[in-house]
Amino acid sequence: MFTLAHLSDPHLAPLPKPRWSELIGKRVTGYINWQRKRRFIHDAAVLAKIAADLKAQAPDHIAVTGDLANIALPEEFTRGAAWLAGLGAPSGVTVIPGNHDAYVPAAGVLVDRLWRPYMSEDDETAGFPFVRRRGPLALIGVSTGVPTPPFFATGIVGTEQLAALALTLDELKAEKLFRVVLIHHPPVSQAARHKRLLDAHILLHVIAEHGAELVLHGHDHLHMLNWLDGPDGSRVPAVGVPSASAAWGTSKDAAAYNLYAIDGAPGAWTCAIVSRGIGAAGAIMQQRRLKLLG
Ligand SMILES: [Fe+2]
Repeated sequence: MFTLAHLSDPHLAPLPKPRWSELIGKRVTGYINWQRKRRFIHDAAVLAKIAADLKAQAPDHIAVTGDLANIALPEEFTRGAAWLAGLGAPSGVTVIPGNHDAYVPAAGVLVDRLWRPYMSEDDETAGFPFVRRRGPLALIGVSTGVPTPPFFATGIVGTEQLAALALTLDELKAEKLFRVVLIHHPPVSQAARHKRLLDAHILLHVIAEHGAELVLHGHDHLHMLNWLDGPDGSRVPAVGVPSASAAWGTSKDAAAYNLYAIDGAPGAWTCAIVSRGIGAAGAIMQQRRLKLLG
């Protein structure tokens, strides 16, 4: 039995005080949005409770599907690295970037410099998609984070990465591993068009043709479960979690994370989810248990 924990969109708070020179381009609208709205949603104390509860469950591995940052100030990436280190060693934690981690063109360099130990191949090769093998699992890290104009939160996987993903999924199937695709934007979403994954239809085609056992995402800040078409009539669960720092009582789901208990072998995998999250009284509790596979 292998236990994988999944949390997403911690949106580390509070926001560092930006210098005037840093408030350029998209950061301006992002900063106003943070001051008006988001600072009342993303709560550092909530995130600390979620992280402590998750660590107390002692999962075999932790997956973080992006959006550690908010408006991609340089200090947010340093804080992101410190937060990841608090969660665990790079061998036990895998992260992929979200759109807020790619908010401005300069962000990519900082992500690569400061978070690479958590988002590279086991031999430390950088780039996407990357693969990390852990027990019966293969974690496949995909990046959808690209700088976008103000008010857009779209993502793109891109043709090069999609082609590499197709080959990777085939190789890992031949290795008989339980393939977990980590991606920030959901492949299926009810969110407004300007927040969606632009090439989701091609990603769905790749999954339908090459298969995966599980797709984990964040971005919409909601508990989500969509069943995707897989090869030969199979179905692939795509599961999303709320923001790990979301206060209780906002318009989105309150902070939570998922624990996956994975067992079995190809053709007979079993996978069950337990969701744990924050309740109205501020304590973390089990919210649901669901058998996904087997
Ligand atoms: Fe987010």
